[in-house]
Amino acid sequence: MKSVIISGGSKGLGKALSNVMGNDGWKVLTFSRSIEESGNEPNGSVFTMRADLRLDRDIVSVVNRANMLFGKTDLLILNAGTIMECRNVLESTVADLRRLFEVNVFANYYLMRTFLEANPNGTVVHVTSDAARQHFPGWGVYGASKAVMDFLIEAVAAEEGNLKAFSIDPGDMDTEMHRIADSSSDREALQSPEAAALKFYEKLKEVLRIE
Ligand SMILES: NC(=O)c1ccc[n+]([C@@H]2O[C@H](COP(=O)([O-])OP(=O)(O)OC[C@H]3O[C@@H](n4cnc5c(N)ncnc54)[C@H](OP(=O)(O)O)[C@@H]3O)[C@@H](O)[C@H]2O)c1
Repeated sequence: MKSVIISGGSKGLGKALSNVMGNDGWKVLTFSRSIEESGNEPNGSVFTMRADLRLDRDIVSVVNRANMLFGKTDLLILNAGTIMECRNVLESTVADLRRLFEVNVFANYYLMRTFLEANPNGTVVHVTSDAARQHFPGWGVYGASKAVMDFLIEAVAAEEGNLKAFSIDPGDMDTEMHRIADSSSDREALQSPEAAALKFYEKLKEVLRIE
């Protein structure tokens, strides 16, 4: 049986993906700031823990907890992320950039490093966005933060011979993050996080070459 840490399991894609993978035999530990703690009794096959990605000590606790529960952890999915209401790059402030980069880049970087120190044979998957590769008006600062993390993931994979690290784009989803960014978008046109999680898991298995 395989084990995974998924960041941001209180809602949206992280919650749905935790359930999909838990139901497919993975041992899952997911965390966020608002999630209800499972303690030593998983909800189904998903352990939950309250932790804030922005706090180094919380990241260390998450990685240690997963290895206590699972012995070692095979996979890290960097799913948690943050956004702001869409505004053009020149209408954004340095504080906006700091807030988005703090979670989407610095905290993700520290979680990846801490995870790989504890699990040198582990695999890392970053949940990215099409906004990291294309310019959509208003999404530039967010897209830049996702692009930086994509680049770090590619660099790590290139530098560390045997290490597997990838980014996967789940596509647009009807989640709180999307509503914060653009409350006027047509929600009917967006996929549900549950549907996105099923597709994401199929892509993940393809990339990891697992059945
Ligand atoms: N929605 C889209 O259309 C879309 C499209 C492409 C890519 N993505 C990417 O998909 C991923 C998931 O997004 P989503 O739409 O599912 O967002 P969401 O519903 O807003 O969920 C975000 C998750 O991240 C957690 N989180 C945020 N800040 C955190 C922190 N400091 N510490 C710990 N957990 C934190 C939140 O939990 P708490 O609030 O409880 O901490 C929540 O569980 C993100 O990486 C996003 O960039 C989204």
